[in-house]
Amino acid sequence: MSYYSIQNIKLTDLANQFGTPLYVYDADKIIEKISILRDSFKNVNLKIKYACKANTNLAILKLMRKHGVEIDVVSPEELRLAMMAGYEGSQITFTPSGVSFDEIELAAELGTRINLDNLDVLEKFGQRYGNTKGALIRLKPHVFGGGNEKIMTAHPESKFGISIHQKAEILAIVEKYDMKIIGLHQHTGSDVKNADAFTQAASAILEMAFSFKDLEIIDLGGGFKVAYKDGDIVTDMKEVGEVLSNAFLDFSKKYGRELQLWFEPGKFLVSEAGTFLTTANTVKVDPIKTFVCVNSGLNHLGRPMMYGSYHDIFNASNEDKSEQDEYRVVGYICETDTFSWTPEGKQGERLMNKVTAGDIIAMKNAGAYCFSMASQYNSRLLPAEVLVIDGEAKLIRKRETFDDIVRNLVSVEI
Ligand code: LLP
Repeated sequence: MSYYSIQNIKLTDLANQFGTPLYVYDADKIIEKISILRDSFKNVNLKIKYACKANTNLAILKLMRKHGVEIDVVSPEELRLAMMAGYEGSQITFTPSGVSFDEIELAAELGTRINLDNLDVLEKFGQRYGNTKGALIRLKPHVFGGGNEKIMTAHPESKFGISIHQKAEILAIVEKYDMKIIGLHQHTGSDVKNADAFTQAASAILEMAFSFKDLEIIDLGGGFKVAYKDGDIVTDMKEVGEVLSNAFLDFSKKYGRELQLWFEPGKFLVSEAGTFLTTANTVKVDPIKTFVCVNSGLNHLGRPMMYGSYHDIFNASNEDKSEQDEYRVVGYICETDTFSWTPEGKQGERLMNKVTAGDIIAMKNAGAYCFSMASQYNSRLLPAEVLVIDGEAKLIRKRETFDDIVRNLVSVEI
């Protein structure tokens, strides 16, 4: 796969055909990641539940389903999208945080698997369903893992899950209502690169598992770290696969039967499949630095500005390396929306092949948490999305129009 094309279709051709700003996803890359994950856990009874918050385009959900990947949702709307993609209730896991019990009831009535993440909800679920419906419990294993503190979810102060130190309270509720707990869940965080965090979390959950008799599932969440640039440290899937599979098989022996091992990755499956195409509106030469101002901003791809995330950026219109310059790539939003962050997490410059106004500026790792976190800030339109599949580029979301911005406005006399 060339840097400048996806499945032999040039990025600049995609930009010409569909316009910019444009999200483009490579189906082959997603399929490749699914098989890497399956391969890493080939010795256990693995189920992959795609954390669709990373990218909820219906075509992506259908692609996952076609390749035997089930789905994890966090809102009634994601649940509906999953159903639109053809998933049955039993293939959907609902992993919400702090939602109303109405949402939990809705998901339960549709037959989804639910991760209950606080004692109050556990009690309500017990009162409402007793042992007539199974549920999973989301635990907080008190483990530090994740790329930055905003995306660490299993440490002692995290809002997510029921603390493993509340085991007695959990067991009392389960016993009181004769509940059928079919699984235990934990999610360490996102961009977790050290295998240790996964193993620590897994051993906390597996130890707790002996207190439950009806378990069918151990769900170890998502968070595998992908490469954002050459030479990046990523989760070593072979190592994590081996270590966790062995721990799991060991546990299964002691537990008396083999359970299903679930993972719910988002980034791992879709981050690298995505490329974001923008156009350089202007090249602004300043005494200190040169800015490339593109026709997008933190409204479309906010990860650098929110987390200091690194996204590889290059000039898709110019493959000639003989003339390069250091550019600070920025957006058009009325805030400091710098795309070009340094590996150290600071706003900075990137060495790029010479940029002239009108060039297509591409950003990598745009498949996860990019479109799904986009907004209409500054009353800008959401970009279009394209899926390249079997060598063909297909429009999977139309670009917004002004009508989408005013659709829900109510006109009142002032
Ligand atoms: N399971 C649960 C319960 C989660 O909360 C998440 C992500 C995942 C699975 C999938 O994690 P992943 O494999 O994608 O790392 N917006 C942030 C990431 C937020 C992650 C939220 N939860 C970012 O762009 O870095």
